[in-house]
Amino acid sequence: MIRLAVILPAAGTGSRMRTETPKPYLRLKGATILEHTIRNFLRVDGLVQIVIATSNQWMSQAQSIASSFKSDTITVDVVEGGSERQFSIHHALQSLDDHVNMVAVHDAVRPFITTSLVELCCTEARDHGGAIVAVPAKDTIKRVDAKGFIQETPKRSTIWQAQTPQIFQRPLLERAYKKAIAEDYFGTDDASLVERIGGKVKVIAGDRRNLKITFPIDLRVAEMILEEGSFDVPQ
Ligand code: C5P
Repeated sequence: MIRLAVILPAAGTGSRMRTETPKPYLRLKGATILEHTIRNFLRVDGLVQIVIATSNQWMSQAQSIASSFKSDTITVDVVEGGSERQFSIHHALQSLDDHVNMVAVHDAVRPFITTSLVELCCTEARDHGGAIVAVPAKDTIKRVDAKGFIQETPKRSTIWQAQTPQIFQRPLLERAYKKAIAEDYFGTDDASLVERIGGKVKVIAGDRRNLKITFPIDLRVAEMILEEGSFDVPQ
């Protein structure tokens, strides 16, 4: 039986957004981005715990959001984040309930994830070890050297852009984090830590609406998606 916890890293400073308020606490149509994100997880089959990692100054705000989502079946906890996303998630891993057997990591600033995509990702992760949501690269990707010259152009049909959720069997993710932290390895996503200990990770075709709100333009797009309910974005 799946007993899933979702870790929501929300401790970023939002420097690329150029706002005082960090991105998860910016409001979109009456609710914070973090609240929109949490709402989309509440109906996920097997969800038993939500852990929000946030910066020290935003703990009380996160606590009050957490209390508003607690229920008889779902516990919602808040932990202090770290200076890097990876540290924020590492802290959150320490506060998982004992009975949790699958762990999802989902950026707090991706409010348009759907219940069905999380559930599909979770069953694939249960069967294979790990699974992540991703979209095929729409641009051609170049590997460039320090002087700005192209070194390699990987075949675009094999390139995917990793999003979240990234879901793993709990022992696999815990081992991956333990090793990365011990060896001072930093990855830009969770799957990369699992890959380096030999874990198998399946890629699930996701949805371009699952954008990570990063730049001011992303907020405008997010408002449009919320206004239109369904915003037709082809693969
Ligand atoms: O900055 P980036 O786009 O990588 O942030 C992705 C998510 O990780 C955001 O929800 C952000 O709040 C979170 N984060 C974090 N701790 C950090 C940096 C980012 O929880 N030190």
